[in-house]
Amino acid sequence: MIADIVVDLQYGDCGKGKIAHALCRENNYTHIIRYNGGCNAGHTIYHNGQKFVTHHIPCGVFFGIKSIIGPGCVVHVDTFLEEIDELEKKGISARRLVQVSANAHLITDFHKMEDEKDEKIGTTKRGNGPAYRDKYGRKGVRAIEDPRLQPFLVDLYQELYENEEFDDVEILFEGAQGFGLDVDWGDYPYVTSSHCTAGSALLNGVPPRAVRDVWGVAKIYETYVGAKDFEGPDEIFEEIREIGQEYGATTGRPRQINWLDYDMLKMAARINGVNNLVFNKMDILEEVDSWCLYDGPNLYQFKTRNDIEMWLTSKLQIEVMRDMEIMFSGDKEYI
Ligand code: IMP
Ligand code: MG
Repeated sequence: MIADIVVDLQYGDCGKGKIAHALCRENNYTHIIRYNGGCNAGHTIYHNGQKFVTHHIPCGVFFGIKSIIGPGCVVHVDTFLEEIDELEKKGISARRLVQVSANAHLITDFHKMEDEKDEKIGTTKRGNGPAYRDKYGRKGVRAIEDPRLQPFLVDLYQELYENEEFDDVEILFEGAQGFGLDVDWGDYPYVTSSHCTAGSALLNGVPPRAVRDVWGVAKIYETYVGAKDFEGPDEIFEEIREIGQEYGATTGRPRQINWLDYDMLKMAARINGVNNLVFNKMDILEEVDSWCLYDGPNLYQFKTRNDIEMWLTSKLQIEVMRDMEIMFSGDKEYI
């Protein structure tokens, strides 16, 4: 068994969907598995020139690969079914490819109603927190209990270990949210209720030794949506928000913006065991022609894109991993 993991190193919205999409094209995965989160996530994917926003469904559907919602996720059934219909309407045969792990938990309408009252965290109001609370409180509802999910259910153990259909299982784990929103490692309580680290992918039924590559995804600047104050004082962030279209894919809220925090990035790269790192949105900073980052409390300003690329590459290779592959990419460039 081989598993690659895509993990976001900041606060979500760093372009995991784009990287997962590119990896699907280049590899022979048998399964794509979402390993955490619920319909709080919004993945924007461009496939054959068409734009798709998915919440629950992994990107394998665009390539005819089995796409599984793992037991680390929580599922809102109506949203899930709507998403299937939406994809089918656009010519993607999702119904045939998407499966839901029988032991994944459900987000009920009651969870959503409860979450809609949140003012403290600035949640996406999708019922995520209450669903995980009930899961761990041992009063949750699992996918196997909802008849509407019957045609989609999969026993993940059978599928991955006892299935004659595959000689070798090759999995791409697609995460949701990001390291800065992780319930343990993020800025608690301004976090989501699931584990967003590479480690959490393994909780979906795969042994640690199966892991081949961990793809960390970051942006060259940071964005965050939620209740805490995050945006820096620089006027340029207004411009970056417009040019970079920094509005939530799920809620449409404006994302707060700040310069990249190198210390946090380093911590995320270490804890997730990242051996491939992609910085996205280079083209946005190119348009505003401003290249800054925080190293500890110090704000560094670089003259050119090349300068910041060299600085980040050498720091990460010295401080985290000598032969880490580091890529810099724009929205319209593919890696
Ligand atoms: P929840 O996950 O809806 O409970 O929200 C908790 C925090 O995580 C809030 O600050 C949300 O804005 C943030 N969050 C949740 N999902 C995403 C996402 O997919 N992208 C960015 N932020 C997210
Ligand atoms: Mg997103």
